[in-house]
Amino acid sequence: MPSAGAEAPRAGVPRTLEWEGGEDGTLFVLDQTRLPGTLAVVPLADLAAVHDAIRRLVVRGAPAIGVAAAYGVVVGVREAGPGSLEGVCRTLAAARPTAVNLGWAVERMRRAGAGLPAGASHKALVARLLEEARRVHAEDLAMCEAIGRHGAALLPEEGTVLTHCNAGALATSDHGTALAVVYAARRAGKRIAVYADETRPLLQGARLTAWECMQRGVPVTLICDGAVGTVLGQGRVDCVVVGADRIAANGDVANKVGTYTVSVLAREHRVPFYVAAPSSTFDLGCPDGDHIPIEERDPREVTHPLGQRAAPDGVRVYNPAFDVTPASHVTAIVTERGVLHRPDREGIRRHLA
Ligand code: MRU
Repeated sequence: MPSAGAEAPRAGVPRTLEWEGGEDGTLFVLDQTRLPGTLAVVPLADLAAVHDAIRRLVVRGAPAIGVAAAYGVVVGVREAGPGSLEGVCRTLAAARPTAVNLGWAVERMRRAGAGLPAGASHKALVARLLEEARRVHAEDLAMCEAIGRHGAALLPEEGTVLTHCNAGALATSDHGTALAVVYAARRAGKRIAVYADETRPLLQGARLTAWECMQRGVPVTLICDGAVGTVLGQGRVDCVVVGADRIAANGDVANKVGTYTVSVLAREHRVPFYVAAPSSTFDLGCPDGDHIPIEERDPREVTHPLGQRAAPDGVRVYNPAFDVTPASHVTAIVTERGVLHRPDREGIRRHLA
């Protein structure tokens, strides 16, 4: 039986990312490529380092890369000097294509910088950019907390949530989106446990979600991706809760590859399928899932899991990092504004108005 109660203290667990100091300060991130074996906090001292950290998934998860990129604009413009704002923003926005939070945060930074009066000093520009990045960071924290509060009401007093990839504190400033729902429900005294699927090829479920849940005292059971149908069919799961990288205007949801498969299985077994995401994950300029750019990544992620060869040399590989779950599979979307049941174009427009 899942245990109840508040999260266990996380003594010694660093935050996903942090800015230390003032305008001459440093962006630090927890290196997620090394979890769960090693807790390493690394400084990202220049634009190339921030770009590389986002590309390599040192920092990952849609909201977290948005916040990292916001600080990355500060670092990049500080380094490159006057006249660099547009170029720095373009570089960071292109680091990964699917998570709209990245472009959203960078565009906020660009506008904040461009909004300064002509003739403002470079020092004033960096100060203004840092102020805006801190705001993006604080808003992300607040949004995740509110998502948890709203989503917790959807969970039973006792039960089990299945999640895919990592949409937890590691993927955001803190709390997470999908896992925020679990944490908030448990703080409210609900006895909630988690099934985490491995999430191949990069194992965010095994390496990150399982680790994060254990750090916070949440009972978690790890399954391989192929066992999702089995646990759903056996009635072991009360609902699925996942995060999102981009939600189109019609409610189609891009998330880590494999999410669509989970949604089909949830539908087959009549298990509610919830998506938890801040409003910064919606892209109303994107009409539907067919228009969401899907990142394709290095074939070696598939052929060499954890750096070990697991496929014949020279085999052809297709490695999309995300997939699209149609809105019709989504029972509800939980945002910081509340719960939107059976999302469609009109409902989303009203929810975000
Ligand atoms: O490639 P990743 O690890 O950045 O993919 C992350 C996901 O797919 C998450 O589910 C999504 O970004 C939501 S995080 C709150």
